[in-house]
Amino acid sequence: MSIIGAKAPLFAEPFMFASNFQPPENWDRSGLPGWTYASEELFALEQDVLFRRHWMLACHISDLPEAGHYIGFDIGTERALILRGKDRVIRAFHNLCRHRGSRVVEGSAGQCKQALTCPFHGWTYNLDGTLKSALQPRSFPPLDPVEWGLKPIEMDIWHGFVFIRFQPGPQPPMSRLLARFDNLVTPHGLADMIRVDGEFVFAEADVNWKSMRDVDNEGYHVPKAHPSLQDLYGKDYVDEPYVDGASLSIGKLNDKPRQFWSVREYRKLVSRLTHLPAPQNDSWIYIGIFPNSVIALYPDSAIFYQEIPTGVKSTRQRGAVYR
Ligand code: FES
Ligand SMILES: [Fe+2]
Repeated sequence: MSIIGAKAPLFAEPFMFASNFQPPENWDRSGLPGWTYASEELFALEQDVLFRRHWMLACHISDLPEAGHYIGFDIGTERALILRGKDRVIRAFHNLCRHRGSRVVEGSAGQCKQALTCPFHGWTYNLDGTLKSALQPRSFPPLDPVEWGLKPIEMDIWHGFVFIRFQPGPQPPMSRLLARFDNLVTPHGLADMIRVDGEFVFAEADVNWKSMRDVDNEGYHVPKAHPSLQDLYGKDYVDEPYVDGASLSIGKLNDKPRQFWSVREYRKLVSRLTHLPAPQNDSWIYIGIFPNSVIALYPDSAIFYQEIPTGVKSTRQRGAVYR
């Protein structure tokens, strides 16, 4: 399937399992030309046009449980800092000191109790991003705390998932773009989930980011690449084309997985969960979000993952699991 959005009508009925799915006519599932996976020029263009100007899934609200908790998110030459303030509000900023441009915080996550202190010359910022103080303030003219505060980044939250956008772009707010999935995901209570321990990095691979995304976008690879998932939902599984920058795939959990004992046990445990209505209690749901992210729901948990390009032929897969 191409990563470029196919034009197809929205499916009125989200639970379109394989048994009643009709692929749209003229669905372009061809791949991109080979050169697009090795071109430095295209890679530079992608950094600007895709990753800087489209919504990036940065984290989940539960990754910022208390005031001062932050998540660092780097992509291309951009770096962001998502921070919970003392007023409990989550805000996103460029992770860039207003003095000489140093990173204000290090790493992929952390907590600053009272203020953020730039490690370079010690300017401090309040947890709402405003400038608190500059070291040796008399060596500067008066600095307005808002004007000299951290530069905000556009942010939108959809069912607990925090999206940021470094520059204005063609997509509507994420909560509008994904609104057609609201009814589908609401029973899962995504916003109330909590992160399962672990690092944000899932894997590093020496391939172009589109190679990973192309494979992941179509379920056709599942039987060979993920036999246990095939055992779990492979009998009744369908991919929807990209429509307006998002796609849906749904698998109905097999009643009797045969191949793997672990899948059989998982299936039994999931059958006992009573918090979800049918058919969510029986389904694996995958929402692909252009250009590089996925939110997937199991009856007992949710996961997000995404490709962070680190070079033309190197990609970091970043993600986390929530319950
Ligand atoms: S660069 Fe941050 S205080 Fe100078
Ligand atoms: Fe896969």
